[in-house]
Amino acid sequence: MADEPFVTIIEPFRIHSVEPMRLTTRAERDAALAAAGYNLFELRAEDVLIDLLTDSGTGAMSAQQWAAIQRGNEAYAGAPSFYRFLEAVTGLFPFRHVLPAHQGRAAEKILFTAVGGPGLIIPSNTHFDTTRANIEFTGASAVDLPIPEGLRPAERHPFKGNMDITALERLLAANADAVPLVMLTVTNNSGGGQPVSMANVREVRRVCDAYGKPLFLDSCRIAENAWFIRTREPGYADVPVADIVREMAGLADGMTMSAKKDPLGNIGGWLALNDDDLAERCRGLEILTEGFPTYGGMAGRDLEAIAQGLAEAVDHDYLRYRVRSVAYLGEALERAGVPVVVPFGGHAVFIDARAMLPHIEPLSYPGQALACALYAEGGVRSCEIGTVMFGLRPDGTEQAAPMDLVRLAIPRRTYTQSHIDYVIEVVTRVAARRAGLPGLRIVSQPRQLRHFTARFEPLDSAAPAP
Ligand code: F0G
Repeated sequence: MADEPFVTIIEPFRIHSVEPMRLTTRAERDAALAAAGYNLFELRAEDVLIDLLTDSGTGAMSAQQWAAIQRGNEAYAGAPSFYRFLEAVTGLFPFRHVLPAHQGRAAEKILFTAVGGPGLIIPSNTHFDTTRANIEFTGASAVDLPIPEGLRPAERHPFKGNMDITALERLLAANADAVPLVMLTVTNNSGGGQPVSMANVREVRRVCDAYGKPLFLDSCRIAENAWFIRTREPGYADVPVADIVREMAGLADGMTMSAKKDPLGNIGGWLALNDDDLAERCRGLEILTEGFPTYGGMAGRDLEAIAQGLAEAVDHDYLRYRVRSVAYLGEALERAGVPVVVPFGGHAVFIDARAMLPHIEPLSYPGQALACALYAEGGVRSCEIGTVMFGLRPDGTEQAAPMDLVRLAIPRRTYTQSHIDYVIEVVTRVAARRAGLPGLRIVSQPRQLRHFTARFEPLDSAAPAP
């Protein structure tokens, strides 16, 4: 397929079982939005037509995964399903210890409970929200060190997810004792789904070595990241993605993983690492909160689905389709004059809501306003990644996030090209009436991870609903 001249995206699968979608009217969606307090996490999924809230756990499993689920063995300890999972994980990520967990944030919770604490600093290219929250929960600080290009949505750079090496060196030179480990998120989800180059991973490794610091990868989308390395980084065009993944893992001392992303599971995750002492401490915590170390919060059938999913995640035909179909959406929006983060990431297209809605101040949440408008217009659910998600500081004060983005995350193998064509139409229609969209104010919010449960109301009640 790779060498064929055709431009039409062929989903490299045919549909095996179907799930109906429910159509709603504009009036129904307006009512649902108001009842949800203008927070799309509070909607019932049945009221959503195309759900691009997240690519996490929302993918379709393959026939082979469903078959693997049938042989799931539910022994409390030492199940064969665990050993199949372990073999699949260490085949790509050859770390000495693998601790299964029910999802990525559980692995983060265990890791940072073990290494975090007041006064400590954990640098990353950009922490995901749950990673940041888990770090801050221990009293440590989560510091983002993206390269400057990573914060400029319209600027093209092949590896906008890279870490700023000079900034990392500066931070370590000043605070080496306070840094228990360095993290790299591949791809950089919060920064636009942008990949990190192998050269950058090597540079980060070099700096970590100079200060004797371990490097951990937040690896949720490492297969997509590896595909970008193969297609963009000199020297990798002929290297299989599985080998690129192994090379990245070989540069690290450990990893956290949400199996709900690239590993094509609906649930699951793990923490893997080489350090025996740290692994011992983490295992103690795992037993406390997740379960016995051969299932760690997952059923045997979940372990089987992930083992099979990992093999499919590094398949080149799948990854080519995956990255191409995301770019298809992005390119159409770009042609329609919608400001989008370029180049397009692996799992999502990010709309620059701050650029699209310049009349809405960051503290009136342009991303949230746009996400609400996309739902009201056509039942498309997206996710604000901006001031709502990142603007509330641990001390309770509020500040504008570096960017106000709206993420259209594409669940894996779930929607077809005609669904995406519909999404393009919805975004284009909202863009045509962008000047009339109102900002929002927060009516109530929790102290942490506020984007999940905060309630909003449109700012100008005289203006039409978003
Ligand atoms: N790290 C990254 C980069 C993530 O994107 C996520 C989850 C996690 C860690 C946590 O994993 O959900 O299994 O606990 N991201 C989802 C998203 C929720 O929508 O991007 P989890």
